[in-house]
Amino acid sequence: APGNVAAVPPMGWNDWYTFFCDLDENLIKQTVDAMISTGMRDAGYKYVNLDDCWSAKERDAAGRLQADPAKFPSGIKALADYVHERGMKLGIYGDVGTQTCARYPGSYGHEAVDAQTFADWEVDFVKVDWCFVPFEDFPGKSQQEVAAELYGRWHDAIEATGRPMFFSICVWDPSVKSWEIAGPLGDMWRTSNDYSDSWGAVLGNIDAQAPLADLAGPDKGWNDPDILMVGKGGMTATEYRTQFSMWSMMAAPLLAGNDVRNMSQETLRTLTNTEVIAIDQDPLGRQATRVRDDGDLEVWARPLANGDVAVALLNRSGIAQTITAQASEAGLPTAESYSLRDVWAHQTTKSTGAIRAFVPSHGTAVFRVTQSGDAKAPAVSTSVKIGAD
Ligand code: GLA
Repeated sequence: APGNVAAVPPMGWNDWYTFFCDLDENLIKQTVDAMISTGMRDAGYKYVNLDDCWSAKERDAAGRLQADPAKFPSGIKALADYVHERGMKLGIYGDVGTQTCARYPGSYGHEAVDAQTFADWEVDFVKVDWCFVPFEDFPGKSQQEVAAELYGRWHDAIEATGRPMFFSICVWDPSVKSWEIAGPLGDMWRTSNDYSDSWGAVLGNIDAQAPLADLAGPDKGWNDPDILMVGKGGMTATEYRTQFSMWSMMAAPLLAGNDVRNMSQETLRTLTNTEVIAIDQDPLGRQATRVRDDGDLEVWARPLANGDVAVALLNRSGIAQTITAQASEAGLPTAESYSLRDVWAHQTTKSTGAIRAFVPSHGTAVFRVTQSGDAKAPAVSTSVKIGAD
């Protein structure tokens, strides 16, 4: 995307899962104000994203999308100004088909004018949905081929505006496998269908994204396991910390989905854990892989830019259990000692190689592991050319 807006996964907020079609400019402004006063903005959450139902049911006389005048009487440009004056960025929503999922005007055949309208409003982030797709106009083409064509139109339309706008591809139907075609077109793409504020659904989205690690990266874009449920109320604090941990291990977009105007201190502490966020936002941009799967006990590892490795110990079972990983299986070089930074307890311990924690049911321990002693001689010597270039 122009401007390299996707060098790291985006962080921000999206209204959909808490407010659905019940959004307006007061909600958005209050959310911006709350993200500043709570410290969310300064922790990295910069996008404030409108989802479906922001627009009027009809285009204007010139064929452009227009905001619903009852919900956004000041218009989207004024809202963008409000957001920008406060050091944040505005996101908006559209659809590749003839209507949005909630039956507002779709962009099919209007891609160029709609992208330009968003650019004129100084929008920074565009999510484009996958409802009411006119497959009948593409006889003989697979759904994936239609997705490539329609998101390709949007890619070109955004690029033609010259404005850097983060492009979020929302093919919510995993049978389309949009991740196979999305990388060259967009900055993030969904890896699962819409989900619920429940433990089983979180595990489902983790498992759906697990095999796709190679697709993610600063020059590629980001797998999107969807908006966070943290703080919405359907899960325990432990489960929400697991969601936040695993989204960060998976280099996922961190888009909060709760009502940030009214959240508990515990929810805020989860969302603004800067040590966990630093893993998500690590500039190497490598999505974690599951390096061990012992049924309900899992070990995930993610190499980081400074040579550290982030290691997550995930307990999917119904009882607290000890999980032990070895530095070697997490891909760390062989060394005499390691320091283990527990990014939830904010404590550092030493180890000769075991990475161990007593993990509560549905909990996740996350360590930033640093080789701290001298490196041991490699077991197998590799030949090094000296003097050659
Ligand atoms: C789809 C998307 C959701 C949301 C709704 C809006 O279901 O997957 O993220 O944008 O549409 O109607």
